[in-house]
Amino acid sequence: MTTDNLKTPAVALGTWAWGDSGKTGDGYFGSHLTQAGLEEVADKAHAAGFILWDTAAVYGMGRSETVLGEALKRFARSDYQLSTKFTPQAAGTGNDAVADMLEQSLARLGTDYIDLYWIHNPADVARWTPRLIPLLKSGKVKHVGVSNHNLSEIELANRILGEAGFRVEAVQNHYSLLYRSSADAGILDYCRNHGIPFFAYMVLEQGALSGKYSPENPLPEGSNRAETYNGMLPQLKALTDKLASIGQGQGAAAADVAIAWAIAKGTTPIIGVTRPDYIDGLVRAISMVLSGDDIAQLEALADAANVNTRGWWEQEMEG
Ligand SMILES: NC(=O)c1ccc[n+]([C@@H]2O[C@H](COP(=O)([O-])OP(=O)(O)OC[C@H]3O[C@@H](n4cnc5c(N)ncnc54)[C@H](OP(=O)(O)O)[C@@H]3O)[C@@H](O)[C@H]2O)c1
Repeated sequence: MTTDNLKTPAVALGTWAWGDSGKTGDGYFGSHLTQAGLEEVADKAHAAGFILWDTAAVYGMGRSETVLGEALKRFARSDYQLSTKFTPQAAGTGNDAVADMLEQSLARLGTDYIDLYWIHNPADVARWTPRLIPLLKSGKVKHVGVSNHNLSEIELANRILGEAGFRVEAVQNHYSLLYRSSADAGILDYCRNHGIPFFAYMVLEQGALSGKYSPENPLPEGSNRAETYNGMLPQLKALTDKLASIGQGQGAAAADVAIAWAIAKGTTPIIGVTRPDYIDGLVRAISMVLSGDDIAQLEALADAANVNTRGWWEQEMEG
């Protein structure tokens, strides 16, 4: 049985882009990150009290976990929490593909337990969810969550875990000003009503909502994120300008406001942190107060941008 409840931080730290930090990185972000630079990010996050790190076995095909494990080595294991994922499409052919993928993650992260282990997507909920139960019983996994699941898939996973005395303890979906399908589909309300923390990913739309990128200064040429977002940047300008102007009034940047919006919606944003100064932005975002009017104006501008940022790996949440 799960004995202690998952402690949910105000913000979690995302490391998908950390998979870009070496030759084996997949170049998804085109960020050219270095181990030394990422260690600085980890130091700064540690000093500021951010402790939950989100990664996945498939980010940079193991590279993100390896780099993260290395960066966290000089901290006590009890000072940080690890969140990583089983990805059904990358399952091996052994008798227990979930346990096998977990073992590989543990080795790369240099630890013997994961605080929060996720099924990355709902490829076959009935097949993979039960495989979490022995991992919970063994203590190798402290808490479990589901990602990219729609409402009925979350409920199915919850029933399967419930038969063994466990439950879905967290939900992780794409949720940003531009992509609010989890709210529209009732998943946010469901989580709130059942006391399940909702982790929002891609709150900054991989940088497109950070205020740093514009039609004149697009996302890194040749990267997957550039392909997705660069064509939309002209439509996003009114929204990013508004984010910047709200931020200006409070000594904050556009990205901080986008993060504060997700917090105001009752979610825990997972923010992809690639530079040490982005940690300062998280500190500002946490203390920022957005008025109801700010929120309404941001959402209206987001709707007016009329873009669809659903990831290629994501299903429609409604219907
Ligand atoms: N479960 C899933 O299927 C799933 C899918 C996607 C993501 N995730 C998780 O969610 C995390 C977040 O998503 P993401 O990393 O894809 O995208 P994101 O958080 O929307 O955007 C991250 C990018 O925004 C920029 N940025 C971050 N903080 C900033 C700041 N304070 N000021 C200005 N720019 C800032 C950085 O770009 P530059 O480096 O170019 O400055 C960074 O690479 C991932 O790392 C991963 O852990 C999960």
